Amino acid sequence: MNARVEAALNDQIQKEGSSSQFYLAMASWAENNGLNGTSKFLYTHSDEERFHMLKLIKFVNERGGKALVPAINQPPVEYKGLEDVFEQLLNHELMVTDSINNLVDICLQEKDYSTHNFVQWYVSEQLEEEALARTILDKLKLIDGDKGGMYMFDRDLENIVSQSVTPPVKA
Ligand code: FEO
Repeated sequence: MNARVEAALNDQIQKEGSSSQFYLAMASWAENNGLNGTSKFLYTHSDEERFHMLKLIKFVNERGGKALVPAINQPPVEYKGLEDVFEQLLNHELMVTDSINNLVDICLQEKDYSTHNFVQWYVSEQLEEEALARTILDKLKLIDGDKGGMYMFDRDLENIVSQSVTPPVKA
């Protein structure tokens, strides 16, 4: 496998792993603050990120490269509130999108068209994740801290989880 593409894929593996840890920390914070629907949503999101990492690991190894399993860094423990959580989540996703775009660029520069094809799945996934994070943030801004609104918001997030549970796709 092309060395530059392999390094970029390993960098992406690290980012997906750290996304999973970051959302796990947010899920745990939400659980400790009585936000059960939000915590379920974030636990599921953390699992999805782990799946994104696994899919990359398998791809690198199957193509004759060597996948590097990243170290676990301590994510933030405390958050100021739900808006803070979802603002950080959106910013994190924007950083991941930049990284995916960079990966696409490298594939084209190195004429690695099969990896380019594989990475298109992540390009679409980023569009969906950014749109979802923006929708959630818009709702939070409308609620503006209203207690009844927050209760409904938390319940709605639980419903999003039960409606959108994607069966674990074969990595
Ligand atoms: Fe796998 Fe949310 O980026």
